[in-house]
Amino acid sequence: MSAALPPVALSLIGIGTGNPDHLTREAQAAMQAADLILLPHKGEDKAELAALRRDLCDAVLASSGTRIEGFDMPVRRSTGDDYLAQVDEWHAAITRCWQAAIARAMEGGLPLRTAGQPLRVALLVWGDPALYDSTLRIAARMQPAPHSVRVVAGISSMQVLCAAHAIALNGIGQPFVVTTGRQLREQGWPPGVDTAVVMLDGQCSFTELLAGPESADLSIWWGAYLGMDRQMLDSGPLAEAAPRIVQARAAARERHGWIMDIYLLRRGG
Ligand SMILES: C[S@@+](CC[C@H](N)C(=O)[O-])C[C@H]1O[C@@H](n2cnc3c(N)ncnc32)[C@H](O)[C@@H]1O
Repeated sequence: MSAALPPVALSLIGIGTGNPDHLTREAQAAMQAADLILLPHKGEDKAELAALRRDLCDAVLASSGTRIEGFDMPVRRSTGDDYLAQVDEWHAAITRCWQAAIARAMEGGLPLRTAGQPLRVALLVWGDPALYDSTLRIAARMQPAPHSVRVVAGISSMQVLCAAHAIALNGIGQPFVVTTGRQLREQGWPPGVDTAVVMLDGQCSFTELLAGPESADLSIWWGAYLGMDRQMLDSGPLAEAAPRIVQARAAARERHGWIMDIYLLRRGG
């Protein structure tokens, strides 16, 4: 199927974290310039996120002539302890979905607005495409390789977290680490830093630190659904805030069917 595809100029457009006002003018222009936008559907529990992407398209595309093609996002196999192999299979499956969606759009008579030029295909990437996102890695697997790949920077959840709490990300002249819940659970506090931002944590991994030697000295700034109407925030000394956050997180997940949260931990207040 891929042999029949035209050359593709791919745009990976950062769209921010759910607030339509996060969309930059550069992102809007890139969406309007695309021949085709591929929109993933990630199952019923994430239908709200798919709807957000659609609303952005409705608001921005108007009469631009950009066509939208949806595709069902494959689910990553989660059995076995071969995590990297699971991710590899998953990325390969997503690449095939993109290519099939492009082929469907072509069969449906996609009007090329610039004859003789590569087909301009865009993906709307949550937050910023460079931060804990694999869209660039998936793009690198396309066969034939894209004619070009362009990235449009987006506002990341890490930035929105700091803005929402009105805090600086780093201490003066100090480094910080951005890591995952899994890393925090398995490796403990990251060496060499007093500030850690934790993403992709479905298990409130900050609770693992409560028994450690540094726990009395740790503070947390937490945010969920950042940028959305239902944004939730909490902060304080870790020992005090942790039980509140665990409870609030579970209740919100139960109520909405999904949650995305991120937090910043700092040693020394
Ligand atoms: C696959 S990563 C994508 C990150 C994204 N590229 C960015 O720039 O923020 C998903 C993780 O980002 C964080 N995240 C994304 N959007 C969020 C939001 N609106 N509120 C809180 N956390 C968010 C969560 O830690 C979530 O598990």
